Amino acid sequence: MSQRRKFIKQSLLGSALLIPGLSTLEAQATPVKKAAGTKPIILSTWNHGIPANADAWAKLKETGSLLDAVEAGVRNTELDLENLSVGLQGLPDREGITTLDASIMLGDGSCGSVAFVRQVKHPISLARAVMEKTPHVMLAGEGARQFAIAQGFPMEKEKLSPKAQVEYDKWKVTSQYKPIINVENHDTIGMIGLDASGKLAGSCTTSGLAYKMHGRIGDSPIIGAGLFVDDEVGAATATGLGESIIRICGSFLIVELMRQGRSPQAACEEAVRRLVAKNKNIKDIQAGFLAINKDGEVGAYAVHPGFNYAQATESGNVLIDAASHFKA
Ligand code: GLY
Repeated sequence: MSQRRKFIKQSLLGSALLIPGLSTLEAQATPVKKAAGTKPIILSTWNHGIPANADAWAKLKETGSLLDAVEAGVRNTELDLENLSVGLQGLPDREGITTLDASIMLGDGSCGSVAFVRQVKHPISLARAVMEKTPHVMLAGEGARQFAIAQGFPMEKEKLSPKAQVEYDKWKVTSQYKPIINVENHDTIGMIGLDASGKLAGSCTTSGLAYKMHGRIGDSPIIGAGLFVDDEVGAATATGLGESIIRICGSFLIVELMRQGRSPQAACEEAVRRLVAKNKNIKDIQAGFLAINKDGEVGAYAVHPGFNYAQATESGNVLIDAASHFKA
């Protein structure tokens, strides 16, 4: 059996053991403690994290590069036609145009991002090109698209996916914007990983909020909000309502709290506490954080129940309910 097929088989076995919906007590049989100190490890948000982790793991085995892995992993989600929150098949803005945000970061401080970019199938790869081929960190809008063309990225037709078109047509009947939390058990994909040598990397990619105002940019391409990585400490990524995450500089906050000695779990919980304190209408806002420290300890926490993530180690690729981290 190929390494990749073997890994996916292990993934399925693993996810059967840990699925969302377990009671808190049952869910305490979590592999989180076992994962501490386990290297390499790759983590990513939501159900779509399982296939994304599988691709990231395969790439890590193929090239040995964690950067290649976190790029390849979220490219999987960027192509998932069923996914309405990542990639060009994501739900559009209120003008019916899909615009994408993405970022990538290494633990040595290298980073790149793109925001409000159109027609690019793999914004994560464009973010990597910004990091590796320009003196800048972030390119947005038409400038990002022109850079993509110059780098040889193919331009896709601006046409909604069949699923997104149906949803957009329904939305146009009332044209109301109201976030609905966890409706499909996915949002942005954020991925963070620790390699066997103790180096960290992360990636984050999204089509952003459905029916956003044209020009709106969320947390995902903002280094420190949707993603932050520091080899001296750890890494964090975010999912959910970008405005609420930007307001507290969520991922940077978590890494800094870990630097001051908090566990990844305690740091995620403090970020959620702060987010709840700084945002009105919290009942309508979902935001979740996923973090790892340089020792391989994992934390995850969200404003509301329903947030889960996928964890890949040599033992397999399992889906974990963030509620399994709650203290008894
Ligand atoms: N977290 C994705 C966004 O708000 O755009």
